[in-house]
Amino acid sequence: MRPGDQGRPHDAYFQALNDELKSHGPMRPALLIDLDRLDHNIEVVRRFLARSGKQLRLVEKSLPAPGLLRYIGERIGTRRLMSFHQPFLNHDARLFPEADILLGKPLPVRSAQLFYQQHRGPFDPARQLQWLIDTPERLRQYLGLAQGLGTRLRINIELDVGLHRGGVAEPRALAPLLQLIAEHPQHLEFAGFMGYDPFVGMNLPELLGTPNELLAKVMTLYQGHVDFTRQRFPALWREDLTLNTAGSPSYPAHAHESLSSEVAIGTGLLKPSHYDLPSLAEHVPAVFIATPVLKRTGALRLPALDDKSRLLSWWDVNRRETFFVYGGNWQADFVSPAGLRLSGLYGRSSNQELVNASPAVGLAVDDQVFLRPTQSEAVLLQFGDLLAVRGGKIVERWPVYTE
Ligand SMILES: Cc1ncc(COP(=O)(O)O)c(C=O)c1O
Repeated sequence: MRPGDQGRPHDAYFQALNDELKSHGPMRPALLIDLDRLDHNIEVVRRFLARSGKQLRLVEKSLPAPGLLRYIGERIGTRRLMSFHQPFLNHDARLFPEADILLGKPLPVRSAQLFYQQHRGPFDPARQLQWLIDTPERLRQYLGLAQGLGTRLRINIELDVGLHRGGVAEPRALAPLLQLIAEHPQHLEFAGFMGYDPFVGMNLPELLGTPNELLAKVMTLYQGHVDFTRQRFPALWREDLTLNTAGSPSYPAHAHESLSSEVAIGTGLLKPSHYDLPSLAEHVPAVFIATPVLKRTGALRLPALDDKSRLLSWWDVNRRETFFVYGGNWQADFVSPAGLRLSGLYGRSSNQELVNASPAVGLAVDDQVFLRPTQSEAVLLQFGDLLAVRGGKIVERWPVYTE
């Protein structure tokens, strides 16, 4: 039977998931991680790491479930995480006592203080954690925290390598930061740089530069900061500093530079639709939302218009069937069955969303519809446990991070 035949609305891939979810799923909106497809993406990244000699840091906010992070970390062989949120950071430190964690954004010093207050267990922040610092003012606040706690903080400095999201934009501006670190060896330790450059892999107009030209500019800026530090603060320089760069869109371009020591990747391993970029052409989508059809109500009928609505479905065959699905209004697009559309007239709903289709779609009440998220992070936190599937079967349930 073909997709659309009665009782088989999907192609073989989604039909297998539909059958599995109808018998073993929660029959409410669910977030699926396809492990076969994730394994493919892991392999693509693993080959890049082998080629480039770089290490991988997993972006925790983009893969916000400890089970998912553990699965990828074990397969790829990395203990490095990038964290962006104090409550998640505390979870990471407890759940991954061997981890090496770098903050991906500078947190208010009070957040850092809360981390220390709540931290329990063998994870040793003085060895295993790098705070990200963007200004001398923030570094002085962190120095105060370190003095109050009687500990030493490892400091990674945020560089502006062209993203213009803050951070140190020219080497001279490093001086007050490095000076402060050099003057307080009891409480501060220089741990490296972080320079994030997603624009290198985004589909920018050619006139702004090819990916290779953009990368060259990024690396010239990065190199300037490294040279300045080595020349002016040689005592702070060590060969094992963390020289972090990239994100999913730009990591492939970094195969050709040898300055950075590691790349940070999260979302690209799942490839939601905003990451349909030429730089990630080898990656495959590995994340979907599934939700059951609650009602099938025939041709689209709009409130108040009642029978006059019929004109709409007469005009457009793709409005001749109407479904209400469980939940909705996500940052996601319908992918299966083909031809599902939001009405555009009825209004969105997070509770029961209206979806139109042609009668040939073959969907019935209790069948699942599938959507592809546009991003990972926030979307992944909206469905309770992630359902990991392999070969069309649910094989694991992974709780997501909570506050
Ligand atoms: C500092 C930093 N590095 C890396 C990333 C890459 O994350 P992802 O691979 O999920 O896009 C991000 C994303 O926001 C980031 O802020």
